[in-house]
Amino acid sequence: MSSTSLLDLLNFNENLEKRKDRARFIRRNVKYSADMDFVETPPEAVEALLSVERFEGDILEPCAGKGAISKILIAHGYNVISRDLVDRNNEKVEANKDYFASTEMFGNVITNPPYRKATQFAYHAIQHVYHKVAFLLRGTFLETPTRRDWLFENPELPTCFEKLYVFSERLPFGESNMIMYCWFLWNKQFHGNHPTIHWL
Ligand SMILES: C[S@@+](CC[C@H](N)C(=O)[O-])C[C@H]1O[C@@H](n2cnc3c(N)ncnc32)[C@H](O)[C@@H]1O
Repeated sequence: MSSTSLLDLLNFNENLEKRKDRARFIRRNVKYSADMDFVETPPEAVEALLSVERFEGDILEPCAGKGAISKILIAHGYNVISRDLVDRNNEKVEANKDYFASTEMFGNVITNPPYRKATQFAYHAIQHVYHKVAFLLRGTFLETPTRRDWLFENPELPTCFEKLYVFSERLPFGESNMIMYCWFLWNKQFHGNHPTIHWL
């Protein structure tokens, strides 16, 4: 075999592996979206938030899933209302509750919303709390002109994006730990112009 054809063969094998990886990636994501973006929050993510933030009053978990975030909040003594659009067989979570249909006010909202609609969830939550909104989201949530205009620099919303909590170690989330996650914290009692960055 000439050296050129050996190189071709190596390239072919490498491309085949890339195609297989891509197919696996797509299969995973199709399954993920078909299940309403369901992925459970690891307990250490919630413990880390509670080690640095106190919440006054009740807490709504509007996308509670099977209750991964709620149960840690309850264990810390908070009064938690847990809801979800989908019934995931947890009697402590009120099912068939579309958060966008709710105009109730709560003390705070803490959740890990479906990422594809996280901007809309944050926009809605900020308007329906007395105190704080804490969302566990990918670091890339800071990007895009839509989020800048809708959330971070929207003159119609209170300028209450107070803190960004960055995990110094990656969280084991879903099927990988390749993604940078942060707690985004909005606080209605914060009236500064810019958020500050903190490491967990
Ligand atoms: C990423 S999972 C988070 C589950 C849970 N918070 C946890 O951390 O384990 C997002 C959840 O949002 C729910 N969801 C999607 N759209 C919703 C809506 N409009 N109102 C309420 N829940 C919704 C999904 O059913 C899913 O359980």
